[in-house]
Amino acid sequence: MRLDVLFAPGPSTATELTGRTVVVLDVLRATSVMAVALSNGAKAILPAASTEEALRIAQNLERDAVVLAGERKSVRIPGFALGNSPLEFGAEAVAGKTIVMTTTNGTAALIAAQGAREVIVGAPVNFTAVVERLRAAVTEPEGLVILCAGGDGQFALEDAFAAGRLAKALLPGGDSKGQTVNDGTLAALELARHFGERWSRALRTSAHGRELLALGFGADLDVCAGQDTHPVLPLYADRRITAHRPPNEG
Ligand code: MLT
Repeated sequence: MRLDVLFAPGPSTATELTGRTVVVLDVLRATSVMAVALSNGAKAILPAASTEEALRIAQNLERDAVVLAGERKSVRIPGFALGNSPLEFGAEAVAGKTIVMTTTNGTAALIAAQGAREVIVGAPVNFTAVVERLRAAVTEPEGLVILCAGGDGQFALEDAFAAGRLAKALLPGGDSKGQTVNDGTLAALELARHFGERWSRALRTSAHGRELLALGFGADLDVCAGQDTHPVLPLYADRRITAHRPPNEG
């Protein structure tokens, strides 16, 4: 098995990911929000690199069907309908809509992963759906990459912990012994051991978690720490993220 964890996207990320299966994690809060939005009936999410790009993409879409969403420094971009709080993405706001979204780290990591063979959007809220989809990918020669969005190109504890939990669920016996893994995977597994099942503890310990608490987004932390509350499988292809439906579900 081959499994690499990258703690943040960097200049060579796109090349590193070519031809491989990738899961992108931005637990606080972009990938959690995307899973919540799709499970509440959003039609698609289009990640944009900047506010200007989001506006440009939205212009080419039918006005009634599109919702602009995103944050800078954790707060809603002025003029956008939604920010980046999962509580804003209820069915009444997103069902049937195409969401054009730009966030500080999450959408940037997704855009960096675009050239990969398959890009999956992961979070605690859709943990088991992601694990099930990835079981085959870790056994392929190209293996699997867990790409953490991180924070401003740096390690972020909540994403690294989530990466460790995924790695533990995917490796036989939860162990890296005898498998092809990078040092990122080893470190993420250590974090998973340290925090155990305590998603909430790990999220609240992180710098971004503490920042969100200080800004009054404590309820977001609870939503983002909920495992398997939104069991959807978001796939990113052709510049849009949509919920994958197994063929037999129609
Ligand atoms: C990001 O993409 O940087 C985060 O999701 C920011 C946030 O929590 O709003």
